[in-house]
Amino acid sequence: MQRLKHLVITLDGPAGAGKSTIAKCLAKRLGISYLDTGAMYRALTLKALRLKVNLEDEEALAVLAQKTVIAFTEVSDSSLHVTLDGEDVAEAIRSSEVTNNTFYIARAGKVRELMVRWQQAIGQAHSIVTDGRDQGTVAFPKATYKFYVDANFEERVGRRMRELEEAGKTVDFEELKKDMQERDHKDFTRAVGPLKKADDAITIDSTYTNVEQTVEMIIKYIK
Ligand code: DC
Repeated sequence: MQRLKHLVITLDGPAGAGKSTIAKCLAKRLGISYLDTGAMYRALTLKALRLKVNLEDEEALAVLAQKTVIAFTEVSDSSLHVTLDGEDVAEAIRSSEVTNNTFYIARAGKVRELMVRWQQAIGQAHSIVTDGRDQGTVAFPKATYKFYVDANFEERVGRRMRELEEAGKTVDFEELKKDMQERDHKDFTRAVGPLKKADDAITIDSTYTNVEQTVEMIIKYIK
C-alpha cells in the first residue's frame, strides 16, 4: 500500500484481545512503526521492582519515571524491543511479577502524563500503529484512524493461556481467568487514562477471526 501522509492509527482494547499481534502485523503491512505502549508501562514497573520503590507512592514513581529512558530498538528479526535505560528488557517485562504490578504504574497520574508525552513525541516523528488503553482517547485524540479491538472474555483468556504456554509457562485456566478479571477491572476503573472506547473509534470484534482476517478488516477501513 502506498503511504501518502503521516499516519497515527490507534488500537485500544482489553488484555488478550490480540491488539499487539494485530498492531504489529498492521504496521508491517503499512510499512510504518509499531508502538507498544504497554511495554513502556511494563518497563517502568520492572525498574521500580528492581529498585524496590514503594509502588503505592505515586510521587516516588513519578520521580523514577523522570530519571528513566524508555526507548525501542530494532533487533535482527526486524521486531522492536523495548529498552530500559539502554538495556533490552523485552523478555524481562513479560514476567508474571511485572504483569501483576503494572497497575500501580498505570494508575499514577503523573507517570501517565509523562508516558503520554513520550508517546506523542514518537507519534509526531513517525507514522505509527500504537496499541494500548488510552491511545485514541488521551494520547492521540486526533489520530488518523481509531480502533477499539475487543473479543469475548473466554476467548481472551484462552488466547493469553496459549501465549503463556507457548512461552513455556504452566498456567491454571481458572487462576488466569481470575487474574484477567482483576486486570480488566483495574483497566476500566482507574481514575486516569482508563480503558475506554473513544467516541469516534471503530469497534473491531476479533473473537471469531484470526490475526490476518482481523488485519484485513482494519485495512478495509483505512483504504
Ligand atoms: O497491554 P499490556 O498488557 O502490555 O499492558 C501492560 C499494562 O499497562 C496494563 O496494566 C495496562 C497498562 N497500560 C496502560 O495503562 N495504558 C496503555 N496505553 C498501555 C498499557
